[in-house]
Amino acid sequence: MISYKHEPFTDFTVNTNTEAYKAALELVKNQLGNHYPLVINGERITTEQKINSYNPAKKSELIGSVSKATQELAEKAMTSAYSTFQEWQYISAEVRANILFKAAAIIRRRKHEFSAWLTYEAGKPWNEADADTAEAIDFLEYYGRQMLTIKDGQPVESRPGERNRYDYIPLGVGVIISPWNFPFAIMAGTTVAAVVTGNTVLLKPASTTPVIAYKFVEVLEEAGLPAGVVNFIPGSGAEVGDYLVDHPLTRFISFTGSRDVGLRINQRASVVNEGQIWIKRVIAEMGGKDTIVVDKEADLELAADSIVKSAFGFSGQKCSACSRAVIVEDVYDEIVKRVEEKTKALHVGSPLDPTNYTGPVIDQAAFNKITDYIEIGKQEGRLIAGGTADQSEGYFVHPTVFADVSVDARIMKEEIFGPVVAITKAANFEEAIKIANATDYGLTGAVISTNRTNIEYARQRFHVGNLYFNRGCTGAIVGYQPFGGFNMSGTDSKAGGPDYLQLHVQAKTTSEAL
Ligand code: NAD
Ligand code: ALA
Repeated sequence: MISYKHEPFTDFTVNTNTEAYKAALELVKNQLGNHYPLVINGERITTEQKINSYNPAKKSELIGSVSKATQELAEKAMTSAYSTFQEWQYISAEVRANILFKAAAIIRRRKHEFSAWLTYEAGKPWNEADADTAEAIDFLEYYGRQMLTIKDGQPVESRPGERNRYDYIPLGVGVIISPWNFPFAIMAGTTVAAVVTGNTVLLKPASTTPVIAYKFVEVLEEAGLPAGVVNFIPGSGAEVGDYLVDHPLTRFISFTGSRDVGLRINQRASVVNEGQIWIKRVIAEMGGKDTIVVDKEADLELAADSIVKSAFGFSGQKCSACSRAVIVEDVYDEIVKRVEEKTKALHVGSPLDPTNYTGPVIDQAAFNKITDYIEIGKQEGRLIAGGTADQSEGYFVHPTVFADVSVDARIMKEEIFGPVVAITKAANFEEAIKIANATDYGLTGAVISTNRTNIEYARQRFHVGNLYFNRGCTGAIVGYQPFGGFNMSGTDSKAGGPDYLQLHVQAKTTSEAL
């Protein structure tokens, strides 16, 4: 088997790539407004109630609608997943992994088409959509290979006259609850990690981005995944989400999303309900309040560039996005000036146009929340860029920078999840790291410094799951920078890492007397 290499990003300075992307946008445009059913045990089920998915850049444009699962249909999906598990768990690792490799090949062939769906449905600019699709391919290729490396378990010792084995077996039925911000990569990655390890799943995608999830279910079917292994049940978190989290046949929950919902799931999953014979496992990837620290000995252009790109890529709607910059006082004024200039130069507008760096935010609720935080920021800091928003056509918020923010300000502590960054000054490098750590979260962080002693100081003391030196704090690559955070950022389950699949299995020891 060819060794794993991540999927390269598309170079949109090459004319043929630009033309191919435009053609994909056209292809998708001609399919807008279609309806997509639930998929339970391979059966298409259309419900009366629908979830409508709109283009966040043009809010009147319907991307598509999906059927909406009720508790009754969630129960049907659970029955399907539970009975399919009785067979799927014994299918060989090779067969399961081959389905992932085939799915990766299908997506690669139609790469721009999937990215174009992301541009329409999530408002992703071309490069961000392309990266999301590449990451989905990476998860398929990487987890397929990882499964083959763990399929025979781990070596254990045997004494004379016995043969011991240590194998990994699947858990059972998993509930996959995915977010809208990486609506392809995270949805696909969390689903296939569960499936390739021999589990069956109920997939409940985010209600703002269900169409891309349906498209992925179609790919899995085309790749040969048997009916009932992945059951597609979009629905309300409160109705269907709670019902499945509480369900006695649910063995594990793989959740990516906000801290509040993650904690709620964790709490509910800890309750043992009637008929339940196991302790449910929760894999939770939650929010972030991610910081870039700039040392006085640093490449200042790199620092300003890293802050701006990490703060405003995909409108700051990444769990990894830079929402705080902590700058040592010697270089503070210079960095603030450069960040201001670079931010003001960013183009905001429809993601259909590749010259726009910043597209819309996802929906009305996000728009309201972010603009509320901008008003709070105006009280807490000095507005140096942005601060305005426009929802006449889509949900556009201009990249916003607040300087001179105090460390205990709300915009320094709470996850805004939009294009807003708060900048604060530190007396020295040690204090900068202390400020960076003063958060409940612990997902990503970056340090821009040419001082080796300070880099090593940060390596030990900057408490985040993904720490980067002399680069931005977004853009982890599957298999290269396994991704997941500490504290309120989740269970530190490192997606795209060498021990991620083990979260979906249980180890079984067998010992045979010879
Ligand atoms: P969200 O918590 O609102 O929703 C996530 C998912 O949970 C959705 O599918 C939603 O329908 C579902 N849900 C809501 N209520 C539920 C309930 N009671 N029971 C079960 N499911 C329920 O998050 P979001 O707005 O989709 O995503 C943004 C958040 O996700 C941010 O906080 C971001 O930091 C976080 N995130 C974290 C990571 C990571 O790897 N750590 C990656 C991406 C996003
Ligand atoms: N892989 C995404 C990033 O690192 C979450 O930005």
